[in-house]
Amino acid sequence: MTRALTILGIETSCDETAAAVLRYEEGRVTLLADIIRTQLEEHAPYRGVVPEIAARAHAELADLTVAAAMQAAGISYDALDGVAATAGPGLIGGVLVGLMTGKAVAQAAGVPFIPVNHLEGHALSPRLSADCPFPYLLLLVSGGHCQFLEVRGLGDYRRLGSTIDDAVGEAFDKVAKLMGLGFPGGPAVERLAAAGNPKAYDFPRPLLNRPGLEMSFAGLKSAVARVAASAQTEGQKADICASFQAAICDVLAEKSRRALAAFDTGADDKRFVVAGGVAANKAIRAALERAAEENGARLIAPPLRHCTDNAAMIALAGAERLAAGLVGGADGLDAGSRPRWPLDEASALSTPIYGGGHKGAKA
Ligand code: KG4
Ligand code: ZN
Repeated sequence: MTRALTILGIETSCDETAAAVLRYEEGRVTLLADIIRTQLEEHAPYRGVVPEIAARAHAELADLTVAAAMQAAGISYDALDGVAATAGPGLIGGVLVGLMTGKAVAQAAGVPFIPVNHLEGHALSPRLSADCPFPYLLLLVSGGHCQFLEVRGLGDYRRLGSTIDDAVGEAFDKVAKLMGLGFPGGPAVERLAAAGNPKAYDFPRPLLNRPGLEMSFAGLKSAVARVAASAQTEGQKADICASFQAAICDVLAEKSRRALAAFDTGADDKRFVVAGGVAANKAIRAALERAAEENGARLIAPPLRHCTDNAAMIALAGAERLAAGLVGGADGLDAGSRPRWPLDEASALSTPIYGGGHKGAKA
């Protein structure tokens, strides 16, 4: 029997200031508080996340959000066994705010600080609420990331393939921007797509005919840009959104089929997890569900709240690391921030990241 751990988690790598408290015992998770303060309103006028505005907002909100989470959990700082915060990848200003806040709380409470890779948070997010033992295949699709990862165990990840240019969420955001649909683009494009004809435009399915798991979405976005300029009516816009979304679904489903075929665990039940903000998209989920079924796998999608950026997943990564004795030197206090931080450093070195994203490394 290992003892129960109570962990505070902090997430500030993009445009959500979030703090969560959870209790972790023998792999079981009880969420005591889970606060997410989004900065959507601050960034909306610019139709995208502005790093300086994000950093300032995090600086104003971080300690208040931590205090609110501790109050909601109904525990004192003495009851904490550790504090975890995102140390990267992400926008450096926000990451620094979360990291310093986390270290300060950890030091004041006299407990270890656990620096967490944001991508590890996403990778472990299904374990917050589902029975999802290692290993499993993960498709991470968000505004900054688009990659297939084999999650073999805690801290043991193998990147199977990733985008070579834009992340999927980024493509949704850019298409929405082209058509004046507001920010964030994903939900707006999905809403409009529901009223459109997915076959109206024959948009490219980049890299679909090439073997492997690399993906590309920049060309698709350019193809949309060529027709979006002349779209006059709501009907035309809906057709563009539906056709764009259909192209994304086709690419993700086909690459998922290949990834599932390559992910051979030898066991009968394969788990396929989709996480990240784009996992909110119902058409994409349905396409992935079919791909999973065809390959004898079970699709697991965390609840929406834990698909997008949140601190519960950071607290969980912290708890699993602490339970496994994986805390850095000086009780974590010497951890630095890493704006770029691939989960699978070996693959990142042998196949380097292609280009930067608006939220850091995509691979
Ligand atoms: O995981 P997330 O909250 O933040 C990142 O770490 O990037 O993901 C946000 C991204 C945005 O690009 C947003 O447009 C996209 O997820 N998104 C969607 C949907 N909801 C959010 N994309 C497609 N369809 C949606 N329903
Ligand atoms: Zn994220």
